[in-house]
Amino acid sequence: MATALKSEAATGARSMGHMALHYKKPEEGPLAARLLGMLGYVLTQDLTLPDGTHFYRFVVDAKHQPRGDGVVFLSCVPEAQRELMAAIHGALNVGTAQEHPAVAAMREKMDQDPEYGFHYGTLLESLEDLENVFMGLEEANRSDPELKGRLKLVYNRALPGTPAVDARLDASPIYKNATRHAYGKNGVQAFLETDILSSGMLGETMILEFDYVFPGYTNHILSVVEWE
Ligand SMILES: [Fe+2]
Repeated sequence: MATALKSEAATGARSMGHMALHYKKPEEGPLAARLLGMLGYVLTQDLTLPDGTHFYRFVVDAKHQPRGDGVVFLSCVPEAQRELMAAIHGALNVGTAQEHPAVAAMREKMDQDPEYGFHYGTLLESLEDLENVFMGLEEANRSDPELKGRLKLVYNRALPGTPAVDARLDASPIYKNATRHAYGKNGVQAFLETDILSSGMLGETMILEFDYVFPGYTNHILSVVEWE
């Protein structure tokens, strides 16, 4: 006899808890932590591990400091994982004339759409905040001795059609020249890809997404996905 799920067994509130990010090179922990700080994450712990690498705890907003959600952990890619990545690179001849064609095919897709592979998004409640963060990243990518050339930045405007949103984006320092669009209206996305962090099949880069949703709209980029 089948048993119906008990509707009275209500669960409590839930939220997204934490992300565990990895930096690639053991000596680049402090640089990775500085980059996360530039993104507006708040550093709450810097622990030096027995192998000399740093383990960091950040929160996406200061209000999460004593909580168990809104947390971003940052540590070095563990040794066995680094060895596995090296073996994958070797087996696929990554970066050589004999490179497996699947590598270039995947890279091409990632270049077309930063959301093609693994990534995670942080919601900002101020468009000016998002603009300031990314203008800072643009400058760092041009002139910061440690970050120069290591930050790839991509911007998606909201799908057009809301005049007030379109006008605000036309006046935005980072969106006025953007030609790409999000999969929805009334919100924007900004992506940072960096080889300081590791993720994905080859462990070569990590993509972090930052979003802003214009207030007052039921349909927006994070509520309804639309296919252009
Ligand atoms: Fe996304």
